[in-house]
Amino acid sequence: MTEPLGVAVIGTGHWGGHYVRLIGQVAGARPVVVCDTDPGKLVSIGQRFPGVRVTTDLADALADPAVHAAVICTPASTHAAVAQTCLAAGKHILVEKPITTRSEDAAALIDTAAAAGLVLMVGHTFLFNPSVLKVRELIRRPGLGKIHYLYSRRTNLGPIRRDVNAMWDLASHDVSIFNFMLEAVPEWVSAVGARVLNGRQEDVGFAALGYPHGVVAHIHVSWADPNKVREVVVVAANQRIVMNDMDPQESVRVFERGVEPHPTAPLNGAGGIDDFPMTLRDGDIISPRIEPSEPLRNQVEHFIECARSGRLPATDGAAGRDVVRVLEAIDRSIAENGAPKPVVPRRRAMNGGGRMRGALVARSPR
Ligand SMILES: NC(=O)c1ccc[n+]([C@@H]2O[C@H](COP(=O)([O-])OP(=O)(O)OC[C@H]3O[C@@H](n4cnc5c(N)ncnc54)[C@H](O)[C@@H]3O)[C@@H](O)[C@H]2O)c1
Repeated sequence: MTEPLGVAVIGTGHWGGHYVRLIGQVAGARPVVVCDTDPGKLVSIGQRFPGVRVTTDLADALADPAVHAAVICTPASTHAAVAQTCLAAGKHILVEKPITTRSEDAAALIDTAAAAGLVLMVGHTFLFNPSVLKVRELIRRPGLGKIHYLYSRRTNLGPIRRDVNAMWDLASHDVSIFNFMLEAVPEWVSAVGARVLNGRQEDVGFAALGYPHGVVAHIHVSWADPNKVREVVVVAANQRIVMNDMDPQESVRVFERGVEPHPTAPLNGAGGIDDFPMTLRDGDIISPRIEPSEPLRNQVEHFIECARSGRLPATDGAAGRDVVRVLEAIDRSIAENGAPKPVVPRRRAMNGGGRMRGALVARSPR
């Protein structure tokens, strides 16, 4: 294909306008049509992007022969139906996160896209964030030591969604980041939530995730916190890596610190606590150089490249479905006040339904 890939953007609320802008900027693509069921949203799009057609009718948008791909930026609860309609029309799709609100719907999208030979990508934008990529690179280096645990905080005052709770909206990012960093899916979760703003759905959540090899992770999300925090921390035997996405100068810092048994400590485990003296190892704090780039732009470029070449996206349907399975388990746990829940019910795992993607990076002790 030599001409630019024609793209439809479906849903142009808070997020969709960014896609229209970026598709117009990246090489190999052009925005052809923007569709939103709310005609009021299309007025400003028509003014900002005069060459782009606008419509409230999805069938009309997809019938345009110049459209080869669609970006779905509607509320999460509508993703499954809109995505199936786009695939049925023969379009490659980039679906915003979370891919769907039910794992069965995600599995159906994966099957439909595969049968039609179409690209299905999920907008897990943080996996295109240069700071997240730097942390993953650092995790893969030999100096880290065994990963003990990870945690993240993603809090702000709103924006509050109507169709999904704060876990589905915010923790979908953190689950995708942890799965990506550890190249694994959690085996179980335990979560509690609170409805502090309007009582309709959880606007605050705390989730513990149990990854293979005893690696634990924790996620705290909130729509009700006055501070905007975007933090991911990895604690390993030799290093502690702190990612603060709110700090444009030093978004990643590596603390060369650790705690290890004193050389004189007995090896046989006998005796009381005084028989196990520990040594604190205090080293440098390093800020690795990170080439700045816009994560959403990187994501759009990847989608265009995959749609043009047929390549499997880094954030494919299976990665999106894995995140949804974790979020479903989190909902089940919240409903039982934190009772631990398997991410994939054992019954289905035994039938092969719980396939884990990728090799495990949460390494055994070196
Ligand atoms: N990856 C990220 O970092 C990131 C950031 C923000 C939002 N998002 C995701 O993007 C999606 C949209 O978020 P938003 O904040 O723009 O929401 P929004 O509510 O501001 O906008 C959604 C738009 O979709 C339109 N819409 C609803 N149903 C439709 C349909 N069937 N067909 C066409 N248009 C329809 C609505 O009228 C609205 O204009 C969500 O899935 C959200 O999770 C992702």
